[in-house]
Amino acid sequence: MMILKSISFLLSLSLANALSLDVGDKDSVCDAATLIVDGMMDYYEGNRYGGTVGMFQAPYYWWEAGEAMGGLIDTWFFCKNDTYESLISQALLAQIGSDKDYMPSNQTATEGNDDQAFWGLAVLQAAERNFTNPSGDDSDISWIGLAQAVYNTMWSRWDSANCGGGLRWQIFTWNAGYDYKNTISNAGLFNIAARIARYTSNNTYAETAETVYDWLRDVGYVSLSDDGTYYTVYDGAKIGTNNCSTFSETQYSYNYALLLGGAAYMYNYTENETWSTEVGRLYEGISRTFLNNSIMFEYMCEKSTSCNNDQRSFKSVFSRMMGLTAKLVPDYHDKILDILDTSANGAAQSCSGGSDGHTCGRNWAYGGWDGWYGLGEQMSALEVIQNTLIDSADGPYYYYTGHPMNSSDSSSDDSSSRGGASSSIDNNAGLSGDSESLNANSITVKRKDRVGAGIVTAIVLAVLIGLSVWMLL
Ligand SMILES: *[C@@H]1O[C@H](CO)[C@@H](O)[C@H](O)[C@H]1NC(C)=O
Ligand SMILES: *[C@@H]1O[C@H](CO)[C@@H](O)[C@H](O)[C@H]1NC(C)=O
Ligand SMILES: *[C@@H]1O[C@H](CO)[C@@H](O)[C@H](O)[C@H]1NC(C)=O
Ligand SMILES: *[C@@H]1O[C@H](CO)[C@@H](O)[C@H](O)[C@H]1NC(C)=O
Ligand SMILES: *[C@@H]1O[C@H](CO)[C@@H](O)[C@H](O)[C@H]1NC(C)=O
Ligand SMILES: *[C@@H]1O[C@H](CO)[C@@H](O)[C@H](O)[C@H]1NC(C)=O
Ligand SMILES: *[C@@H]1O[C@H](CO)[C@@H](O)[C@H](O)[C@H]1NC(C)=O
Ligand SMILES: *[C@@H]1O[C@H](CO)[C@@H](O)[C@H](O)[C@H]1NC(C)=O
Ligand SMILES: *[C@@H]1O[C@H](CO)[C@@H](O)[C@H](O)[C@H]1NC(C)=O
Repeated sequence: MMILKSISFLLSLSLANALSLDVGDKDSVCDAATLIVDGMMDYYEGNRYGGTVGMFQAPYYWWEAGEAMGGLIDTWFFCKNDTYESLISQALLAQIGSDKDYMPSNQTATEGNDDQAFWGLAVLQAAERNFTNPSGDDSDISWIGLAQAVYNTMWSRWDSANCGGGLRWQIFTWNAGYDYKNTISNAGLFNIAARIARYTSNNTYAETAETVYDWLRDVGYVSLSDDGTYYTVYDGAKIGTNNCSTFSETQYSYNYALLLGGAAYMYNYTENETWSTEVGRLYEGISRTFLNNSIMFEYMCEKSTSCNNDQRSFKSVFSRMMGLTAKLVPDYHDKILDILDTSANGAAQSCSGGSDGHTCGRNWAYGGWDGWYGLGEQMSALEVIQNTLIDSADGPYYYYTGHPMNSSDSSSDDSSSRGGASSSIDNNAGLSGDSESLNANSITVKRKDRVGAGIVTAIVLAVLIGLSVWMLL
């Protein structure tokens, strides 16, 4: 009885402290968003003594820092708040690595295609939001060029020899997962290629996007319902298992989201109805599995509340891609905005915990703070809340105007024909690096890195085994 009483007391206390949010009101949304950003910064290492620029503290992995930076660029853009402009810029530049392709030597030993893709998505966000270009010693670097370097290195790893195509999860042979072809790596490449196509008006990138998308459907990771109305998206399969046909059936919102967003860019760029049909089928898949009364939730982890650090951040990219899709495919604008508004209200109520009274929780349908906290919770709440502002902001910018069918547009160098962006195109970015970044089969990696990777893998395995033993007991 006493316990119940104190719980309800705590609950009323936390509700009273909930982040106030009026989704129609830009000042209210930006006040909420910047408060959440301050909470994110509690986990940022880069401005601490001895910390690494561009990294968040353990246990948050490198890829999640890339995802976080993409969200912070949007806060800069939606709220015109430049408090963290130079911090973001420094973080994006600190992690590019010596070949300027987001294969930094600290990460390469354990880096997967999906990890690299998330930094590619961050610099695409910078290019499309016209985020302040690098200056001084870094003025030869462009945000879109970095995204093109990620594209070029990822595309060079396309593996036609197994399962008819696709990227493997891991880049390097010695990492567990080298034999797994996963959806997120391929959906990442699809999303990046579609966005570069629209940004540059260069069809070569659109052709790649189509190749990747077609493969995901052919192999069955993206599987159409019998009635043809919605897709189910699976996590991936091992190449040794019947030509990638024995799937891991887990479903994550970030897989659907990157496919939805990529299809939305393809529609906006090609104006071909085929792509709006694809947007619709992905949207239906999302609404069947990842919404609870219009509130976004991470189905696989939240239904059982066993959510790991990665999964707890997926609603951030989910929210960002929903916002971009609403902007790029007007037919879906109203439906998606309803979802974003409802989810943002739930997220704001969840941001009522911790010692600051506005730490965000995991479950947006809970009606208050559910006791969870971390970088993923902050990022996810930030992105859903700020994406309610899409109507008051421009859509993603691009460099060349024009429909792809009109080749005279894409050769124009007249800046007045540009679509608001200013980051200069560099088609060959990343291609001059050594073969280490490009081709996983011809690498000579320092012994030290290999040993490091082996140790990390061993620790992860030990933890997994330890956990399952513990669960059996
Ligand atoms: C800008 O963002 C910072 C950090 O999130 C916040 O403290 C500040 O209040 C914001 N400024 C305005 C004018 O909203
Ligand atoms: C690489 O790791 C070292 C050791 O932790 C750190 O001092 C350095 O700043 C890191 N560099 C990058 C680019 O992350
Ligand atoms: C393997 O799967 C791919 C993609 O679905 C397909 O193109 C290829 O023909 C399949 N190969 C065999 C031997 O079944
Ligand atoms: C739209 O795309 C589909 C599939 O790629 C293609 O078959 C069709 O010809 C395209 N339509 C137009 C008008 O370009
Ligand atoms: C949906 O949200 C309600 C609270 O509004 C909750 O009781 C229910 O468990 C949620 N459903 C799922 C599948 O999480
Ligand atoms: C493409 O996106 C812009 C917003 O960035 C939107 O105004 C336009 O209507 C979209 N194009 C199509 C064909 O829907
Ligand atoms: C192609 O682009 C040129 C120059 O921007 C423009 O004058 C022309 O109307 C466009 N043609 C089509 C079919 O869109
Ligand atoms: C993008 O940035 C450039 C360089 O600062 C600027 O000239 C241009 O006007 C900006 N575009 C928009 C839409 O504000
Ligand atoms: C389009 O992109 C491809 C691949 O990067 C490149 O080889 C080609 O030169 C580009 N075309 C134009 C017109 O820039």
